[in-house]
Amino acid sequence: MSNIDSIIHTEALTKIFSRKKIAVNDLYLDVPKNSIYGFMGPNGAGKTTTIKMILGLIQPSAGTIQVLGEKMRKDSAKLRRQIGYLPTNPKFPEKMTPITYLDFVGKIFGIPKQIRIPRITELIRSTGLLPLSSSEIKKFSTGEITRVGIAATLINDPKLLILDEPTLGLDPIGRTSTVNLIIELGNNRGKNVFLSSHILGDIDRICTHVGIINDGKLIFTGTIAEVKKLIHTNTVELQIDGEPDSIIQKLKLIPNVINVDFDRYIIRVGIDSKENYANALPQIFGVFKNDPVELISFKSGSENLESAFLKLLEDEKSNGFLRAITKNL
Ligand SMILES: Nc1ncnc2c1ncn2[C@@H]1O[C@H](COP(=O)(O)OP(=O)(O)OP(=O)(O)O)[C@@H](O)[C@H]1O
Ligand SMILES: [Mg+2]
Repeated sequence: MSNIDSIIHTEALTKIFSRKKIAVNDLYLDVPKNSIYGFMGPNGAGKTTTIKMILGLIQPSAGTIQVLGEKMRKDSAKLRRQIGYLPTNPKFPEKMTPITYLDFVGKIFGIPKQIRIPRITELIRSTGLLPLSSSEIKKFSTGEITRVGIAATLINDPKLLILDEPTLGLDPIGRTSTVNLIIELGNNRGKNVFLSSHILGDIDRICTHVGIINDGKLIFTGTIAEVKKLIHTNTVELQIDGEPDSIIQKLKLIPNVINVDFDRYIIRVGIDSKENYANALPQIFGVFKNDPVELISFKSGSENLESAFLKLLEDEKSNGFLRAITKNL
């Protein structure tokens, strides 16, 4: 079955290495058009293996792959030319400069000079490499190398970008500028972007959709909002300054509040259901009125993608456990 609205579509995609290691296990992936799709999972989850199969660089043990509506095969060179691929920790010829390297890659793609030169100029500018355009790549920081890599993936104006851990090893400044560059490519340049990462904050900032892989299996796929909704924990965290006792007593009296915990300046308030969340909030904030305790900040429990991710992994583990138990009954 094909799916014309998907940029990447896999069915039952499986990779078993050396007949024993199941790196990717029965993966059904649908990457919607015009999305920035985050492929998230811990080390060894199967992200790179999946990416290499999507690119046709390694052969699946089972299953099918469609990219941009076409079946991906070992000999799909033409299809691969429509994809820009940035591997994890890319290496470039150290003696080259961004200009000479991009020119070299452009020539490999057979892009004529009259198109190649203006495109290189534009890419150097849009990836923020202008001040470094004539410096040797060997002097570059990891973040700058990532920018050269992203510029190179764009040289043939691909419809789809596949970036394997583009923010790995970057400091906060390098990470922010890379994140912004990817958002710009997805939002303003209309590129479809598929990126892998195990850094939740980056996925949260960059992506519209997410697929979570663990131990070779896709345990969740949907929009970022959906993953957060799934674990709506109905909690509010209040950071306070002062003695917490009177506030805690007052919070416990609010209808719909089911539990109140305190741990080092943070009061965590649990509300009985999602529906009562909005009603309970004003009452929760109201307890600080006429009280010497000061409310410094607050956070909704549903905001944190990290806890969503961990919860999904935990659920997967306990489901697996349950499956194992029921099997033995
Ligand atoms: N060529 C190979 N031969 C045997 N096992 C492999 C091979 N390549 C990967 N694996 C194994 O398959 C699993 C998935 O590896 P993969 O590189 O796809 O994970 P990943 O999610 O990209 O991890 P990371 O976040 O560390 O990059 C791992 O257990 C890995 O050891
Ligand atoms: Mg990897």
